Amino acid sequence: MNDPLPEHAVENRNYWDSMADQWVAPGERHWKQDDPTWGIWSVPESELNMLPVDMTGMRAIELGCGTGYVSSWMVRRGASAVGIDNSEKQLETAARLAQEHGKAIELIHGNAETTGLPDQSFDFAISEYGAAIWCDPYSWIPEAHRLLGPGGSLVFLGTHPLAQICAPLNGDVCGRELVRDYFKLRRLDWRDVEIDPGGVEFNLPISKWIALFHETGFVVEDYHEIQAPAAETETRFYATAEWAKQYPTEQVWKLRKVSS
Ligand SMILES: C[S@@+](CC[C@H](N)C(=O)[O-])C[C@H]1O[C@@H](n2cnc3c(N)ncnc32)[C@H](O)[C@@H]1O
Repeated sequence: MNDPLPEHAVENRNYWDSMADQWVAPGERHWKQDDPTWGIWSVPESELNMLPVDMTGMRAIELGCGTGYVSSWMVRRGASAVGIDNSEKQLETAARLAQEHGKAIELIHGNAETTGLPDQSFDFAISEYGAAIWCDPYSWIPEAHRLLGPGGSLVFLGTHPLAQICAPLNGDVCGRELVRDYFKLRRLDWRDVEIDPGGVEFNLPISKWIALFHETGFVVEDYHEIQAPAAETETRFYATAEWAKQYPTEQVWKLRKVSS
């Protein structure tokens, strides 16, 4: 039997089911790309190297797969891919696009914090704004570790903690004021904000991320702080281009499992 969903996962399931229509067009756009781009500034894969170039024979899982385009990129590189997502509606789009593009992806409706999948059943795990921001790190990082075989990789991209600290409490775009306690960063509830209400997100101070990785049995192989491209002028989601050229909006962690 599946574990009961924690409160934040119930809230986020409702939120994402209600938002899924708005993610169809971006999903379709991403599915058409052979070359991956990442995050809110569409940083090319050539800059971030999120995926192994050749994934032939690799068993890969996307934690919080949404419309499934990251899984499609892994399949195009030779992997077999499983995508788990908490929203049935997002998975409907993923299933339709997988069929239209002729890509086999196993799609599972569930919580990436407690997948119920067997131990050590994957070589590679990834999340782009999925579990990376919507799941409690103290649950999903150990779960990703359990799912990986020895030497397996976990790569994820999500909001940078500095951007969370500078995000006004009314839901507006990041400003130059520090509005939250950095050291208490963990659960961020965007449900009742005035501007663009959201769901329940998670983040940690950088030192706590690193402590969690080490306690869980991961080593950090690489870390990126993403800056908006110099030519960018638009506001994307929670940051203006001007802000994001000066401060990091996103972080990428690349981890390797070193102990079981
Ligand atoms: C922004 S999408 C990520 C997919 C894609 N990379 C993207 O950026 O559009 C966020 C996804 O995380 C999923 N999600 C939220 N909480 C989750 C959880 N506890 N377990 C699995 N998926 C979750 C949502 O349902 C949603 O489809």
